[in-house]
Amino acid sequence: MRCKIVGVPVQDGAGRMGCDMGPSALRAAGLVATLEALGHTVEDCGQVQRGIVQPQSHSNTALKALPEISAWIAAIASKAYEASHEAMPIFLGGDHSISAGTLSGVARRAAEMARPLFVLWLDAHPDFHTLETTASGNLHGVPLAYACGLPGFSGCFPDLPVAIDPLHVCTLGLRSIDPAERRALNETGVTIHDMRAIDEYGIAPLLRGFIERVANANGMLHVSLDVDFLEPSIAPGVGTTVPGGATFREAHLAMEMLCDSGLVTSLDLVELNPFLDERGRTASLMVDLTASLMGRRIMDRPTHSYSGS
Ligand code: ARG
Ligand code: MN
Ligand code: MN
Ligand code: MN
Repeated sequence: MRCKIVGVPVQDGAGRMGCDMGPSALRAAGLVATLEALGHTVEDCGQVQRGIVQPQSHSNTALKALPEISAWIAAIASKAYEASHEAMPIFLGGDHSISAGTLSGVARRAAEMARPLFVLWLDAHPDFHTLETTASGNLHGVPLAYACGLPGFSGCFPDLPVAIDPLHVCTLGLRSIDPAERRALNETGVTIHDMRAIDEYGIAPLLRGFIERVANANGMLHVSLDVDFLEPSIAPGVGTTVPGGATFREAHLAMEMLCDSGLVTSLDLVELNPFLDERGRTASLMVDLTASLMGRRIMDRPTHSYSGS
């Protein structure tokens, strides 16, 4: 496959500094060489540059860095559109606000190709606040709502070329949802597989159901992987840890199943904060998960499916 690596060094959307070093840490952990070793052609497109910052104000005075994030989203969206032309872009965050831009750009690409875009959101949080409902004011808490066309963003964030159908969005791993997000998720019909569902049914059948829906619709699939999807004890390099996340094996299995599906057309690796990491272990884990998504496997699978016999 042809991969394009796009560094997106944004930290203003998170509550603490350090995510701007994420792209460097992922590169230092060997992302490019890892993908090349799997047989992919990799072009490192360097870093996105923030657009021009225009002064802005909003009635929600809690909002932090609105003009800066808005300028980032515009620049990221156009880069995401460009990089998704006949290649699979891999966006290296940066905090999760970058996905407002990556989703906007890949949704525009999918619309142009007349294919529906589906989104798999691997995260402890749904990031489904609007500019009105966020109490923290941290704009990494809003990108999925923006990309799904929820109201209240116009005039503040760049106009969306195409909104993503919330019925095409599946969140997996949720365990921290604010009340306003809960209401909005229920109203819009986003699929929610929270940690309870993973505990009860296992990650494989939940993910398999979503993959089948994408395949049946001939969809394109964007995967957005927030570090805090993972259990904090294996992934300490993130500012918003929530106990009880996906295990090492659950995360790798999800990536392996996504690889087998052949449906993934773009990827975000977000929220890595190298300042909080321990000797690069979280960066290395994110690279290893990307490797599983991109074809690394323990053994070749038999051509028939496992039936337990
Ligand atoms: N819902 C919380 C907030 O709005 C947490 C968001 C965490 N988002 C993230 N991308 N880590 O502040
Ligand atoms: Mn997130
Ligand atoms: Mn999160
Ligand atoms: Mn549909």
